[in-house]
Amino acid sequence: MKLKSLLLAMAAVVCSSALFAQNREKTKPLTDEQWMSLAPTPPMGWNSWNKFGCNVSENLIKDIADAMVSSGMKDAGYEYVVIDDCWQIDRDENGVIVCDPERFPNGMKAVADYVHGLGLKFGIYSCAGTHTCQGRPGSMGYQFIDAKTYAEWGVDYLKYDWCDNEGQNARAAYLTMANAIKATGHPIVFSICEWGENQAWEWGKGIGHLWRVTPDIRACYDCKFDWGGVGVLGCIDAMAPLHEYAGPGHWNDAEMLEVGNGEMTKDEQISHFAMWCMLAAPLMSGNDLRDMSLQTIEILTNKEAIAVNQDPLGKQAVLFMDMDGHDRQIWAKPLANGEIAVCFLNRGRDTWNLDYNWLNQTMYFATEINFRTNEYNIRDLWAHKDLGTSKGRLVADINPHGCLMVRLSRTGM
Ligand code: GAL
Repeated sequence: MKLKSLLLAMAAVVCSSALFAQNREKTKPLTDEQWMSLAPTPPMGWNSWNKFGCNVSENLIKDIADAMVSSGMKDAGYEYVVIDDCWQIDRDENGVIVCDPERFPNGMKAVADYVHGLGLKFGIYSCAGTHTCQGRPGSMGYQFIDAKTYAEWGVDYLKYDWCDNEGQNARAAYLTMANAIKATGHPIVFSICEWGENQAWEWGKGIGHLWRVTPDIRACYDCKFDWGGVGVLGCIDAMAPLHEYAGPGHWNDAEMLEVGNGEMTKDEQISHFAMWCMLAAPLMSGNDLRDMSLQTIEILTNKEAIAVNQDPLGKQAVLFMDMDGHDRQIWAKPLANGEIAVCFLNRGRDTWNLDYNWLNQTMYFATEINFRTNEYNIRDLWAHKDLGTSKGRLVADINPHGCLMVRLSRTGM
């Protein structure tokens, strides 16, 4: 018992040493405009939960950050390295959060500094309730102390969960934490994680920068669990009706990626990633970046697909055609400069022998897309080759659970 108290006291000192070095000038709170500008395109990064659960440590996070650079992920646009649940162990006598001294022996600021040293950003996790979902101390009642601590550590991203919430009003609970962060004057992207239970898309804009719309994802294409877990298709279906709620600074979160995890086929993983790009969903990889197959790297760093996700117009794709009992879908995402991304998603078990005549289509949601008056170049974003123009037919065999994702840009422009 004595040893535990001693360790805790030591950890409190390491974890909160930055408190003493606090800047004495009065901090200027972030303005609403600054707040809204923190995620102009969907955030990209990595989060520990899907692969490692509670098994997080300073060494793991440093190795993952190194791998984000050496694998080419950083070059492809990934920047946030986020530690999910289980880094925290207690509070000290001042209410300041204490990180696990065995797993983070040098405190959290040291980890943040390391990540920043690589030109990356650092994220952390807490919960609006009394406890996190793994029973660690939550932020309820400690929001302002926690936000201050995170700011002093240099945290750039906070995922904020909803377990043990004691029946709070969700909007009020998330607004309190947003205000606590703003008050520090330190820019922190705020990720709302209430699993869609309180329809965060209806009130989240201006409070958080992204919000979950489903229970937890599992590394499978088409699965459902009694406790509410969802597969890739479940996430896509939950996102479908929400396109109007997404835009620069405020994103529907389709859940963290499972590319490189579990047993999904190559086609399933490509469809997973392609659709997250179409849906302007945050791209938070959830696999072991230290140990990736070439296939996993190729999927996660497909720059042509990522450019669709990061397009500055910030539109989420619309389900344009839903056919054969949802087996075959066509999704369309308007892009900046009148371009458009289209994804033919084959959710069924049979090959889709596509023979598509653009001239028969009008994309009503985007009046500028008129295939009769304008001709578009068609580019396959996974084969990385041009497929002719919209005056010709698009003929392709799309594998079961696979997709064809193309980018349309006006000819002669
Ligand atoms: C869940 C959350 C997961 C993960 C987990 C940690 O509520 O949806 O993404 O953060 O808690 O305990």
